[in-house]
Amino acid sequence: MKRICIIGISGKLGQYMTDHALSLGYQVTGVCRPESVGKLARFGDRITVFPGRTDDRDVIARAVAGCDGVLTVLAPWGVSDYASGTARAVLDLAEPDARLIFSCGWHISRDGQDRYDWKLRWLVPIAGAIARALRLVDLNDQVRATNLIFGSDRLWTVVRGSDLEEGESEGLPVWSRHVGDPVLASNLTRRTDFALFMVHALTDDRLIHEAPAIVSRASPSAQAAKDSAILTA
Ligand SMILES: NC(=O)c1ccc[n+]([C@@H]2O[C@H](COP(=O)([O-])OP(=O)(O)OC[C@H]3O[C@@H](n4cnc5c(N)ncnc54)[C@H](OP(=O)(O)O)[C@@H]3O)[C@@H](O)[C@H]2O)c1
Repeated sequence: MKRICIIGISGKLGQYMTDHALSLGYQVTGVCRPESVGKLARFGDRITVFPGRTDDRDVIARAVAGCDGVLTVLAPWGVSDYASGTARAVLDLAEPDARLIFSCGWHISRDGQDRYDWKLRWLVPIAGAIARALRLVDLNDQVRATNLIFGSDRLWTVVRGSDLEEGESEGLPVWSRHVGDPVLASNLTRRTDFALFMVHALTDDRLIHEAPAIVSRASPSAQAAKDSAILTA
């Protein structure tokens, strides 16, 4: 894999993914809103930027052409199906054998087997309803976007991020298929490591057609799972 495209490259996650991808030697192209191009100045000519909205199919078609992998930040901004429009464009227009990696949060469930705490069961829907009423964010559209991906036969992975914090890398996060699994209990990952996992997924075929929920490998719950595995090994 040589050339990748980052859809939503100017955000926090996008910039971390760019750092990791460049350090691994990938040629990086990306899409971001025209008003955000300046946020990428520090990368200079090491990346190629296609200014535009991420649900603009003409922009996506040009940006993903020739790319072996596409890393997409799914963000449900506004109430005009931004996330699902972005997902549909990437699914339709990426190269046939490209690895497609998408980001979202733990609130997305692939099979309904996730076990959520009160925050994800009550707070997220209430906050989501308020945000939608204010026409700021439509969390249901992120659900529509991931349902499109789950139903696709493309080579996809949907990475589900825990709560995030800034800070130095703690290494590649650990993952599990279902929120509620003990290894994930700490519910915290460094944003740079979320990005690291997204880039790692490009070349980890075990993650094809998976929706890994991730947590920091340094978190107490990941450490406890590791210790108990050692004890029972
Ligand atoms: N924040 C969390 O705690 C959290 C937790 C778990 C998972 N996640 C997931 O992580 C991913 C990144 O989220 P993030 O919160 O960390 O933010 P982020 O990386 O800063 O990404 C936000 C993206 O949305 C774009 N954006 C911002 N305002 C917009 C608008 N009004 N219209 C269109 N695009 C707009 C940004 O582009 P510009 O640069 O142009 O503004 C950027 O590409 C998402 O998939 C999210 O679901 C986040």
